[in-house]
Amino acid sequence: MRAARRRPVPRPPVWFMRQAGRSLPEYRAVREGTTMFEACRNPDLTTEITLQPVRRHHVDAAIFFSDIVVPLAAVGVDVDLVAGVGPVMAEPFRGRADLDRVPELDPEMVPYVTQAVRQTVAALGETPLIGFAGAPFTLASYLVEGGPSKNHERTKALMHADPRLWHDLCARLAQISGTFLRVQAEAGASAIQLFDSWVGALPRRTYEAQVQEHSAAALHMVAEATDVPRIHFGVGTGELLPAMGAAGADVVGVDYRVNLLDAVERLGPGYAVQGNLDPALLFAPWEALEAEVRRIVDEGRQAPGHIFNLGHGVLPSTDPTVITRVVELVHELGR
Ligand code: CP3
Repeated sequence: MRAARRRPVPRPPVWFMRQAGRSLPEYRAVREGTTMFEACRNPDLTTEITLQPVRRHHVDAAIFFSDIVVPLAAVGVDVDLVAGVGPVMAEPFRGRADLDRVPELDPEMVPYVTQAVRQTVAALGETPLIGFAGAPFTLASYLVEGGPSKNHERTKALMHADPRLWHDLCARLAQISGTFLRVQAEAGASAIQLFDSWVGALPRRTYEAQVQEHSAAALHMVAEATDVPRIHFGVGTGELLPAMGAAGADVVGVDYRVNLLDAVERLGPGYAVQGNLDPALLFAPWEALEAEVRRIVDEGRQAPGHIFNLGHGVLPSTDPTVITRVVELVHELGR
């Protein structure tokens, strides 16, 4: 929490995006016979899964176990989480009439989130819990494409064909995202992260004209209610970093394509950075991985605030013992 606020720390804190999940045998065991949504709506199971990586790896923060489409399902969007694929919509968003199928989120629609956050925070003790939500662009991409997409062609077509509808959809998604973040912060999460995973598909001018204000609105809803630090992350966002910072972030997530110090320079003063080990390096020989971790920690020492993380999520086939070893190394480097 100190690093997120750009205060001095003896070593960088470390956690991993997607640290809870399929890389852990204990996760696969507790998930047996349960769908992803059932797990997300069951506070005891959510708490257990959120705690698993903290117990095993001794990471410095937990990330709340849920998914970016949980709030969409909560407002009534017919979405499934298909193993090996991701979110799949029964009826993709195609026109103005479809806005009615994406109503606003009321905190009372996600009582299981409030309960799970409360009991997870109690069980975590000193370790902070990070809440999260998907950002409007990334959520819109799933809604409009109907599922995961490489090129986001229908989404980009909609942005340019009907900018008003695009803005109305994103304003609705910002309300949903912002409310979902606020529910978690108000229930006791110490920080929040807005995931705009796929926004790196956009040029900066389009981001600034069509997306930034909506992500800013979601982040602003949190700032209005609490003073928890706000982390803003996307993949392939080297060109977008200053705009993502300006959307209202305290910490900007940096993917592995950009050197941390280049990110610091692009961002200008006032931001901490998070990242940015390539998740594929967890498959490389230890000597190569160790050198890379040391390099990132060294770069981070010259940043105003640094939270060690991956440049994107843990891949499901990652050997969890390697993750534990990386955490030990980062911890050791501060001694
Ligand atoms: O430790 C954690 O980070 C756990 C919580 C978490 C999940 N999803 C659990 C999950 C978080 C933070 C997410 C966010 C999420 N979901 C993002 C943003 C992060 C990113 O990776 O960029 C995105 C894009 C999604 C959409 C989504 N949901 C995908 C791409 C998938 C994977 C599909 C697959 O099976 O390969 C999901 C499903 C999902 N979300 C799983 C988990 C653990 C796998 C489902 C399962 O275990 O049965």
